[in-house]
Amino acid sequence: MNTQDVYILAIESSCDDTSAAVLHNDKVLSNVVANQKIHEEYGGVVPELASRAHQQNIVPVVHQALSRANIDKKELSAIAFTRGPGLMGSLLVGTSFAKSLALGLDIPLIEVNHMQAHILAHFIKEPETPMPGFPFLALTISGGHTQIVKVNSHFNMEVIGETIDDAVGEAFDKSAKILGLPYPGGPLVDKYARQGDAKAYPFPKPKVDGLNFSFSGFKTSVLYFIQKETEKDPDFIEKNLNDICASIQQGIINILIDKLKKAVKQTGIKQIAIGGGVSANSGIRDTLKECEKRFGWQTYIPKFEYTTDNAAMIGIVGYYKFLNEDFTDQRITAKARFSI
Ligand code: KG4
Ligand code: ZN
Repeated sequence: MNTQDVYILAIESSCDDTSAAVLHNDKVLSNVVANQKIHEEYGGVVPELASRAHQQNIVPVVHQALSRANIDKKELSAIAFTRGPGLMGSLLVGTSFAKSLALGLDIPLIEVNHMQAHILAHFIKEPETPMPGFPFLALTISGGHTQIVKVNSHFNMEVIGETIDDAVGEAFDKSAKILGLPYPGGPLVDKYARQGDAKAYPFPKPKVDGLNFSFSGFKTSVLYFIQKETEKDPDFIEKNLNDICASIQQGIINILIDKLKKAVKQTGIKQIAIGGGVSANSGIRDTLKECEKRFGWQTYIPKFEYTTDNAAMIGIVGYYKFLNEDFTDQRITAKARFSI
C-alpha cells in the first residue's frame, strides 16, 4: 500500500450541508460545501427536505471537489464518509454514494464519526494554524452538538461533558428567534452584541452537575424575560436589541467558560481546541484570548471553513485511518446516534 501519496475523497452529509473534499495526505486540495438555503424559510432544518437536497447536490459537489483538486477519480486511494451521528435521511445519501463509488473504483471505504472529525480538523495542515499536542481538551460547539472531549491521541478520545438537552447553537438560534431575528440567528446575535452592554440583563446559569451542559432552561429564561419586558413596553426589543444580544451572548459564554474551567481543573490539561460553527463567535474568541492570559491556557481554533460542517475534516480522519489500514466493508450502514 502506498502511504507516501494518499489521496482521499471525503463526503459529508450529516445535516444540511452537502460537502466533498479531496486531500493529499494531511493537506486539503479542495473542500466544496453546498449550503441548503431551503431551511431558512422554516426557521430550522427540515430533515426530509435536507435529504432530498443532498440527493440533488451530491453528484455535482463531488464532481467539483475532484475538478478543483485536479485529481482524476482513478488516482484516489480511498473514500471516506460520515457514518454518523446526524439525520438518518441525510446520512443515507452520503453513505450510499460513498459505498457505490468505492465499489465501482475498487478502493477502500473508510467510515468516519462526525464528532471525531470536528476534533481532528485541528490536524489539517495549514501554514498559519498551529496544531495542539496530546493530550488536549476539545470543545465542540455547533447547532447540533456541545461536547467536551479529552483527546489522548488521534483515536483515543473520552467524552467528559455534553449537553443534556439543546446544543449551544440552538441556544443562540432560539434566543434570536424570540427576538424576531431570522434563522440562523447566532451570527446576528454576535453582530448586535458587539455594540451592546453585556452586563445590562444578567441571565442565570443553569445548575448542571459535573461537566455537562443544559441550554433549554437558558432559552426559557430569555423567553420569560422578553415576555415580561415587552408587556411593559412593546418596543423593548427594538430599543435595546444590542444590550439584549450582548447579555444573551455573555450568558452563554459564562456557561461554556465555567465548564471549561472545571474540565481544566479536573484533568490538569490547559490546551483547549475549539471547533464547530459557534466557534466563529467573536465574544467566545475574545474570552478565550483572555483566558490564555489569565489562566495560562493555550487555545486552538481551526480555519473557519474547517469549523462548520465540511468534508475536509472527514478527509483528515480518513487519512489517519488509511495509515492504520482501518477500512470498513460494504455491509456498513449509517448510524444516526454514534458516540465517539
Ligand atoms: O457547525 P455548524 O455550521 O452546523 C452544525 O450545526 O453542525 O453550526 C451552525 C451553528 C448555528 O446554530 C449558528 O447560529 C451558529 O453555529 N453560529 C454562531 C455564529 N456563527 C454560526 N453562533 C454564534 N455566533 C456566531 N458568530
Ligand atoms: Zn457538525
